[in-house]
Amino acid sequence: MTDTRVPRIQMAPKGPELSRFAYGVWRILDDPQGATPATILKKIDACLELGITTFDHADIYGGYGCEEAFGAAIKERPELKTKIEIITKCDIMLVDPARPDNRIKHYDTSAAHIQSSAERSLGNLNVDALDVLLLHRPDPLLDADEAAGALNALRESGKIRHAGVSNFTPAQFELLQSRLNFPLVTNQVEINPLQLNPFLDGTLDQCQRLRISPMAWSPSAGGEIFTGKGEAAVRVRACLEKIAGKHNATPDAILYAWFNRHPSNIITVLGTNQIERIQSAARCFAIELDRQEWFEIWSAGSGAEVP
Ligand SMILES: NC(=O)c1ccc[n+]([C@@H]2O[C@H](COP(=O)([O-])OP(=O)(O)OC[C@H]3O[C@@H](n4cnc5c(N)ncnc54)[C@H](OP(=O)(O)O)[C@@H]3O)[C@@H](O)[C@H]2O)c1
Repeated sequence: MTDTRVPRIQMAPKGPELSRFAYGVWRILDDPQGATPATILKKIDACLELGITTFDHADIYGGYGCEEAFGAAIKERPELKTKIEIITKCDIMLVDPARPDNRIKHYDTSAAHIQSSAERSLGNLNVDALDVLLLHRPDPLLDADEAAGALNALRESGKIRHAGVSNFTPAQFELLQSRLNFPLVTNQVEINPLQLNPFLDGTLDQCQRLRISPMAWSPSAGGEIFTGKGEAAVRVRACLEKIAGKHNATPDAILYAWFNRHPSNIITVLGTNQIERIQSAARCFAIELDRQEWFEIWSAGSGAEVP
């Protein structure tokens, strides 16, 4: 098995150029090796060596602590700013000691919050601009004029380069887009063989129509696919192992190759803290699944053959 470099992709016709894998920072504070600038820099370097230059954050990750931990690493090596792309998110409001005013978990897509959250992320991350800012969750109180106004202003001021959404339905995406003066570049949603809804509910169809890359979060269903005892996880694991045998590959590389096979050009957001697992995942780019292998994994996840 040879190591492969992670390819680059233009996320949208007027979107940023990113790596086809993003490294997801949600769990970095849980790394048993620690989350010091040194350990985070080691992970960033391992990613860059493979061609992974895109890092997926959110203001809330790690109880509002991940951006700051990552930013402390960037402060030690500011030259990294020109080598990486930063995606971060806003609008989820956690009940957390870091946000004493939040009495209940809620969403906030007011202009004031979008603006202040983006500015705080810039400071935490020690970068001059956010490559992509995502609205993290659809807000039932979304005022599309107001939210779009805040995103337009952030873009005009150069604080964000692009904007996108996460966990939005196609209708919610269209609503926000209708009030923006620039195109949204992604919808980041949960996709994995145990979560097939985006293939069926119009989410990936919309991305393909607009030629924007969706982003897949929790690609291994939070590790369930590799270690879970649930029936569907056990079925998917057995299927990945079988296909891996045919390709002389590892099951994880087969899983990630399954995302790559989809014509919407999914950008997969890796969540492992283990550098060897990031390296192993990257081998998926040397694997092409055929149509029937792809459906074997689908059927293992859904528990049924397609109708
Ligand atoms: N937009 C959203 O609403 C949203 C929601 C959730 C996540 N995200 C983004 O998506 C990223 C990825 O999500 P995720 O962390 O849930 O990804 P994931 O890959 O589904 O789950 C990661 C978990 O699976 C384990 N794992 C990964 N590969 C493994 C393997 N080969 N064998 C055994 N265990 C394995 C990891 O443990 P080890 O660390 O020990 O490998 C880790 O605990 C996040 O970092 C975040 O950036 C976005």
